[in-house]
Amino acid sequence: MKDKSEIKREVQEFYDQYGWKQIGEGLYQNSRYEDLRPVSEEYVQRCRERVKRYLPERGRLILDGGSGPIQYGEYEEYSRGFAHRVCLDISRLALMEARKRIGDHGLFVVGDLANLPFKPEAFDAAVSMHVIYHLPMEDQESAFREFFRVLSPGGEAVVIYSWGEHSKLMCLARLPIKMGGWLLRQYSQLRFGKDRPLKMGDKEIDNETRELLTRPGLYSFKHDYNWLQERVGDLPRFEVRAWRTVSSAFLRALVHRQFFGRYWLRLLYRLEERFPRFLGRWGQYPMVLFEKPDGNSQKAKRG
Ligand SMILES: C[S@@+](CC[C@H](N)C(=O)[O-])C[C@H]1O[C@@H](n2cnc3c(N)ncnc32)[C@H](O)[C@@H]1O
Repeated sequence: MKDKSEIKREVQEFYDQYGWKQIGEGLYQNSRYEDLRPVSEEYVQRCRERVKRYLPERGRLILDGGSGPIQYGEYEEYSRGFAHRVCLDISRLALMEARKRIGDHGLFVVGDLANLPFKPEAFDAAVSMHVIYHLPMEDQESAFREFFRVLSPGGEAVVIYSWGEHSKLMCLARLPIKMGGWLLRQYSQLRFGKDRPLKMGDKEIDNETRELLTRPGLYSFKHDYNWLQERVGDLPRFEVRAWRTVSSAFLRALVHRQFFGRYWLRLLYRLEERFPRFLGRWGQYPMVLFEKPDGNSQKAKRG
């Protein structure tokens, strides 16, 4: 088995050499994990926008742990009311790209999420999306606790995690996803034969890009809901809510414009709003919330 430092070195090398390599205007190799088709656009954007609801509107410093290049416009909104966004990442390329996006609004730090190089209570808010499950499994609890340590009293944190194979709903969808994928391949063969265009979202891609996109992925380890509750459920105002119920594989295989995909996704979004705890627990991507109490204020329950 690989040790912790080996895993981290591999993750860092992956992102420096491939993950954050641009393959189009503002598009990275890492974007292959997202469904970029117009039919899913509204749903995935609204899911990203959800995060902002659980962060303070303004403050001095917000930490973006494992910021990457701040890939999407919705991400930029999280720090709109803050003096600075502190982007921390183990990939230098990620931070160079992030600097291009947010310039002086950002402060850029190469570091490890499981061992933050910041003093306690330095941040008014903290956010981390799709990072903790790329940390070695034994470091993941430390990453949550480090986030808590650096929050100032009254500060709030949002972590997007993935249940991976522990997501019951995505397990149920496994066979339909396989069948949908198979049907799509047959259709594409029939329609285009050998000259099948290579696409990412709606854009055609060349062979060089295809090679980049088909590189093996990198280390990830997803704990389940019980692990999370046991290890970090004691954090103040800890809560798990839905960020996004379905995986990109589900979207690509089963959601299509011709079958009213956009409307099904609107319905799904509404269900996530109505049943955030249920879908947060059983769907693909939970949003993990916690706060540092400030002793004075009694905060209202989250909606
Ligand atoms: C899947 S990307 C997510 C990037 C961004 N948060 C987003 O949602 O687009 C994971 C990011 O976490 C960074 N990362 C992985 N392990 C890390 C660690 N131990 N400490 C800090 N950053 C890490 C990677 O370099 C990469 O930029």
